[in-house]
Amino acid sequence: FSLKKYNTFGIEASAKQFAAVHSIDELRTVLAENKNEKKFILGGGSNMLLTKDIDALVIHIDLKGKEIIKEDDDFVWVKSQAGEVWHDFVLWTIDNNFGGLENMSLIPGNVGTTPVQNIGAYGAEIKDTFVSCDAMNIETQETKTFTNAECNFGYRESIFKHEVKDQFIITSVIYKLTKRNHKINTSYGDILAELAKNNISQPTLKDVSNAVIAIRQSKLPDPKELGNSGSFFKNPILLKSDFEKIHQKFPEMKFYEVSPTEVKVPAGWLIEQAGFKGKRFGDAGVHKNQALVLVNYGNATGQEILAVSKQVQKTVFETFGIHIEAEVNVI
Ligand code: EPU
Repeated sequence: FSLKKYNTFGIEASAKQFAAVHSIDELRTVLAENKNEKKFILGGGSNMLLTKDIDALVIHIDLKGKEIIKEDDDFVWVKSQAGEVWHDFVLWTIDNNFGGLENMSLIPGNVGTTPVQNIGAYGAEIKDTFVSCDAMNIETQETKTFTNAECNFGYRESIFKHEVKDQFIITSVIYKLTKRNHKINTSYGDILAELAKNNISQPTLKDVSNAVIAIRQSKLPDPKELGNSGSFFKNPILLKSDFEKIHQKFPEMKFYEVSPTEVKVPAGWLIEQAGFKGKRFGDAGVHKNQALVLVNYGNATGQEILAVSKQVQKTVFETFGIHIEAEVNVI
């Protein structure tokens, strides 16, 4: 079974077996009936690089549906099933004038993966609106609710990448959104500039969403046209004391303070300075508008993309003494 259509990198890899599940009961049955099989859980396929065939039963989480489960004068609690396409869900919240997700418009992938890496963009992260998620234990098929605190969210991090990695399948997520007094967040410079271009000074949720969409479309490749998984690397976080030594040598290096003792350096800048922006090696390459994104021009294999990523890491380390870590899950 070909997985090419199921990963946004568009890598050709095959699965030994494949099952798409459309309900919690179906999921429970598939897990129970394949207790001794190796299993591989597939959501939107937007944050992984397949470097080999999958010798396992691939279970594609195709649970659909969204509903308002509670509301008061100020807030609404919206529950979405894991298989909803994230951007479609975001647009639906905006059409209903629910605030909180607009800065995360156009992020590829499905709702169920949003907590795994605490997705974020343009000044917002999922942890700011996330209430809880339901998940099924792969071994026992019992369901468990994880609250926001239990998820241990950090920058592109959660409990699902660590303590309970590969143990649970997220089946639905609840977000708490505003119905009025929206916290419009234009702190990310690019958004203000985009709004100013259109002479918008009092932006609505829709205006912010449109600005984010325009910025993303100008920098980030559309996976439908050019295979990619968004940022391939995380922005490295350095101790201020270490950073200061490096900064003396490279005074033009960009950085953001993230805590009194730490700074974050944009990996895209490091990769660009290391000479990789727009570079192509066969069908694998570094995107021309955003060096943090690796792309598949057509028939690159996962191994070829991985080789480019290693070359980038090595050169960045040799140039700046900074290690950049992959954000994408390399399989
Ligand atoms: N930069 C360069 N060259 C590049 C790319 C970036 O010099 O090729 C510099 C820019 O000039 C800017 C800085 O790096 O000063 C930051 O760039 P940008 O605003 O594009 O954001 P980023 O830090 O590169 C992060 C997220 C993106 C998210 C944007 C906007 C990570 C790993 N990536 O990228 O997330 O869209 O911020 O919030 O944190 C994703 O995770 O897939 C993703 C696209």
